[in-house]
Amino acid sequence: MAFSKLLTVLSIVVAASAASMVLHERHTAVPSGFVRRGAAPANEMITLRVGLKSNNGAGLEAKLRSVSSPGSFDFRQWLSMDDVKTFTQPSADTVSAFDTFASANGLVPTVISPNRDWVSITLPVSKANKLFAAQFDVFTHPSLKDSIARTLSVSLPSELVGHVDVIHPTTAFVAPKTRLLSSERQINVRGPAASCNSSDPLGVVTPTCLQELYGIPTTPATQSPNTLLVTGYVDQWAQSADLAQFLKLVRSDIPPSTTFTLLTTDNGTNPQSPDDAGVEANLDIQYTVGIATGVPVEFLSNDFPSALLDTTTFLDGIDNPPTVMTTSYAYTESFFGLSLATKICNGYMALGARGISVVFASGDGGVRTNHDSSDLCANNTFMPVFPAACPWVTAIGSTEGFAPEKATNFTGGGFSNFFPTPYYQTAAVDGFLDTIPGDFAGIFNKAGRGYPDASLQGLGFEMVSGGEVTNLGGGTSASAPTFASIIALINDRLLAENKPVLGFLNPFLYSKASSAFTDVTPGRNSGQVCPPSSSAFDAAVGWDPLTGFGTPIFPDLLAAALA
Ligand SMILES: *[C@@H]1O[C@H](CO)[C@@H](O)[C@H](O)[C@H]1NC(C)=O
Ligand SMILES: *[C@@H]1O[C@H](CO)[C@@H](O)[C@H](O)[C@H]1NC(C)=O
Ligand SMILES: *[C@@H]1O[C@H](CO)[C@@H](O)[C@H](O)[C@H]1NC(C)=O
Ligand SMILES: *[C@@H]1O[C@H](CO)[C@@H](O)[C@H](O)[C@H]1NC(C)=O
Repeated sequence: MAFSKLLTVLSIVVAASAASMVLHERHTAVPSGFVRRGAAPANEMITLRVGLKSNNGAGLEAKLRSVSSPGSFDFRQWLSMDDVKTFTQPSADTVSAFDTFASANGLVPTVISPNRDWVSITLPVSKANKLFAAQFDVFTHPSLKDSIARTLSVSLPSELVGHVDVIHPTTAFVAPKTRLLSSERQINVRGPAASCNSSDPLGVVTPTCLQELYGIPTTPATQSPNTLLVTGYVDQWAQSADLAQFLKLVRSDIPPSTTFTLLTTDNGTNPQSPDDAGVEANLDIQYTVGIATGVPVEFLSNDFPSALLDTTTFLDGIDNPPTVMTTSYAYTESFFGLSLATKICNGYMALGARGISVVFASGDGGVRTNHDSSDLCANNTFMPVFPAACPWVTAIGSTEGFAPEKATNFTGGGFSNFFPTPYYQTAAVDGFLDTIPGDFAGIFNKAGRGYPDASLQGLGFEMVSGGEVTNLGGGTSASAPTFASIIALINDRLLAENKPVLGFLNPFLYSKASSAFTDVTPGRNSGQVCPPSSSAFDAAVGWDPLTGFGTPIFPDLLAAALA
């Protein structure tokens, strides 16, 4: 009795002793845009999610490499929910290390993910500060409606090092903003099914225009297990009435009652009234339901950025997940912090292994994150965005004009500072780096994951929001759902021939499918606000970090997928 009490007392002393703390993550300054408002109240309760280390992340990565590489013996033999779990769940040692720490400190962890790799703990701020050598302060940001509690630095007691990947929220400063690219022209009604008008290089983009430009079929899909998931974050709500009006206007060949299924996590909602219309959500829904003809579309509504985690853990727990997921949000990679970005990115690796094609918009600030003011134009240090820069997602950039297409100035592209160039794209990236002049002014990580992987139109999308028809839909937010729809339509053809779906796309895109794209060679991604003379990348022959391999040619992509 006395002995075990002594042990407990000792372990508290060790856990609380500063000498045993190991710095885990730290910002040297408050990330730009955030304002510190003072210390978080000491006795306020805070819920922290603790990401526990998977027992075999390297094994999952190797397995994914095999199942996604054309020519391998198990090509496209995607893993089941339980197969993935055998790799991602924490080891017994890890669980025991965390449970010992928790009980020594009077904490009760709750498992919050199907793979058991996330637990949550609720504790007073003062205790969180002490246990993790943190200083939680309250921060505000113009794009966040609520203030957030964050710390510039977080440490782990040494006995948790190697067992805990990340504690969230601690050092992640994320304030995603939905991007609406402003356009001078607003239209009232653009007639049904308008083609691309190549004598009007910045003309309106409609589903018919995209179908003609990329050879996308209009015939309905037939395979019902093939669903396309659209994520909706940041209070963005997709409106059924707007969708019906849109379909009547531009897809009169399909029933205007064609709609989407609502899914929610975190008590997400999807209120329906013109005042609730979210242009981003409407754009994403209209250019999935309107392009992926006949493919069942789901809309998942929840809050960002914990929503990125929740989306993954939600999908980890369902037997028949969607085959494609598209997300039109991006934020400065460095502000996520390495540990959270890595954990989220590994979550996409697990989804890819299950056969889900995870598609992200590449961001709308060119080489400078989601940049929309001129203050950074003179700064030659490029700022990549996440999740697009995660090697396990397929990142989609934007083009404009029709004959030929060129990279938009806002198309997000560059190289990750967190993730190294993945095996599947080394040749493509090396080829691009050879085109950069010796006196290139931009500063970036040449050894990083290059993005985007592909691109398509991203300016002047005709859409309906709050009952109004506009051509304001734009950004890589328009390109990503359209690309995801193309993948969903190809999956439909594969399933109809009893073949597995495309799943994690990139190894296929960078090998067999690389010629199924129209190379886009003009353009420079200096951003919408910075002068074209500011440092940025120039599009080039072959893969480049503005448009990836270029814009898809549906029949060629389908042929490569079926081969
Ligand atoms: C195409 O664009 C040109 C230039 O803006 C315009 O004059 C013409 O009417 C357009 N054609 C159609 C079919 O809309
Ligand atoms: C969802 O709502 C229920 C009931 O109001 C509440 O108990 C729960 O904490 C909420 N969950 C989240 C994640 O906000
Ligand atoms: C340029 O941007 C980088 C990346 O955000 C930042 O670290 C650096 O301090 C900036 N330099 C100047 C001169 O503002
Ligand atoms: C970026 O491109 C848009 C559309 O082509 C154009 O209107 C805008 O002037 C460009 N921005 C700059 C700073 O050149």
